[in-house]
Amino acid sequence: MSARFETHDFDVLVIGAGGAGLRAAIEASAAGARTGVVCKSLLGKAHTVMAEGGVAAALGHVDPKDSWKVHFRDTMLGGKMLNHWRMAQLHAQEAPERVRELERWGAVFDRTADGRILQRNFGGHSAPRLAHVGDRTGLEMIRTLQDHGVHQGFEVFMECTVSRLFTEGGRVVGAFAYRRENGRFIVFRAKSIVLACGGVGKSFKITSNSWEYTGDGHALAYEAGAELVDMEFVQFHPTGMVWPPGVMGILVTEAVRGEGGLLRNSKGERFMEKYDPKRMELSTRDMVARAIYTEVKEGRGSPHGGAFLDISHKPADWVKKKLPSMYHQFMDLADVDITKGPMEVGPTTHYMMGGVRVDPDTGESTVPGLYAAGESSGGMHGANRLGGNSLSDLLVFGCRAGQGAADGAKTRSGQATIDAGQIERAERAMLAPFERADGPSPYDVHARLQETMQSLVGIFRVDEDLQKALREIARLREETARVRVTGSREFNPGWHLAIDLEAMLLCSEAIARSALVRRESRGAHSRLDYPKTEPEFGTKNTFVKKDGQAMAVGQSPLPEMPAELRAIVDAELEAVKV
Ligand code: FUM
Repeated sequence: MSARFETHDFDVLVIGAGGAGLRAAIEASAAGARTGVVCKSLLGKAHTVMAEGGVAAALGHVDPKDSWKVHFRDTMLGGKMLNHWRMAQLHAQEAPERVRELERWGAVFDRTADGRILQRNFGGHSAPRLAHVGDRTGLEMIRTLQDHGVHQGFEVFMECTVSRLFTEGGRVVGAFAYRRENGRFIVFRAKSIVLACGGVGKSFKITSNSWEYTGDGHALAYEAGAELVDMEFVQFHPTGMVWPPGVMGILVTEAVRGEGGLLRNSKGERFMEKYDPKRMELSTRDMVARAIYTEVKEGRGSPHGGAFLDISHKPADWVKKKLPSMYHQFMDLADVDITKGPMEVGPTTHYMMGGVRVDPDTGESTVPGLYAAGESSGGMHGANRLGGNSLSDLLVFGCRAGQGAADGAKTRSGQATIDAGQIERAERAMLAPFERADGPSPYDVHARLQETMQSLVGIFRVDEDLQKALREIARLREETARVRVTGSREFNPGWHLAIDLEAMLLCSEAIARSALVRRESRGAHSRLDYPKTEPEFGTKNTFVKKDGQAMAVGQSPLPEMPAELRAIVDAELEAVKV
């Protein structure tokens, strides 16, 4: 081990400190593992806070007939049956206890009249199921996990970015990272590593994600040899801000629709009548996003290219109480009083359904010692995630991955030695952008990638566009290998972006390649050239895997669902409820 680098040894290293990472770290520490947590940003700044409207769990406080079975059924149907059944089952069964646990740790949820946790409606859920804290649920969850976590004894490395995982004999043994503050490198040695790095939104131009969400977990896993599944399924949340330009993409919580908000086009029509007359505004996100996109494309959009979302028919005080963040967000950022008139909203890239293929029970990937949870992992949500299921997912599977990683660490004696050659290669790759006399700007490459993904790999896709996107991604990759950064290593955002670009390009390629292979429309993946949902594609996941320097794409059969679970999905809703 080189003495040139700051070095740390852990049983479990968690990369990412949003809800999934914190929950994993809490569990790993509780299991006695020496645990480190690396977060790219400041602790507590995570995309988890962008799940505003609630956490889905069949507590049955508002509709006593709700149950894990109904939640399981809704999740599978929402995911168009591509979900890993075991993940959907564990999720529905364990979410209520994970929410109650959070309450015991200090989360202050809104209450029913008789003092229980209040639940609200969300699209695709057939009961009011989202436990919430106004429209700040994710924030309260992060606060609670942080407060609880700081007493668990895990060590936190803030503003620290992992650029590479180290493997030895086919298993993961460590990670290479750098501190943004001073540009110094760190070598972590770990018996188990949990990836909980969030999504890939920054590959797109319009997104609810902030700068950290560049698909790091997906890329680190891929480079270490793990399989990624379902990468074609990117969730475009139907309602982001569209005006003014500087705030485009910022999330407008689904809770607005959950609390009775109405969508209208420029003609004043409640257009969801045409697309999903039964569920209307509470249709699933894929449907509502396509509907808004179509209304705009066909000339019935709002002045700034969106749709109108109106909650002003409700009493002003009630709106301010139920949706305090939305009230302030629109007042402060757009000068719109949502208690008096409608908001303008349009689709925004929000969530990645695809991710690392994991064992549902332990969170372990196809590479021994490497685990994933939350948005870094795939399989749980199938072709489309229901709102609120991400917060419950990260609690359930963060907990499981933390336990799985701690258990795995116990079976691995001693820290593996990391080959010096791997460390040197990681260092050289990080420093290369400084050493070039000339080369493209990382900002320019990023802007073109975002434009490409937004225009060619967005809500509606066709073969020709996807092929074009792949050609452009290949060009951008070649340019990224030549990008030049200047300045020092201290807080250098250009340098950071140069590193992030590699992960974004890799994820973008995986999305476009997977989208090409799925010649059908299903959930969030809509092909104009293959508009039907095809039964033959309903039995397989798309996966990508590193094959030398190339990306191999394939399809693998879905795991077979046990008959008793199949019966739940096939049953009439009323039969499941009673
Ligand atoms: O709309 C929202 O509040 C987002 C929730 C989610 O993504 O689960």
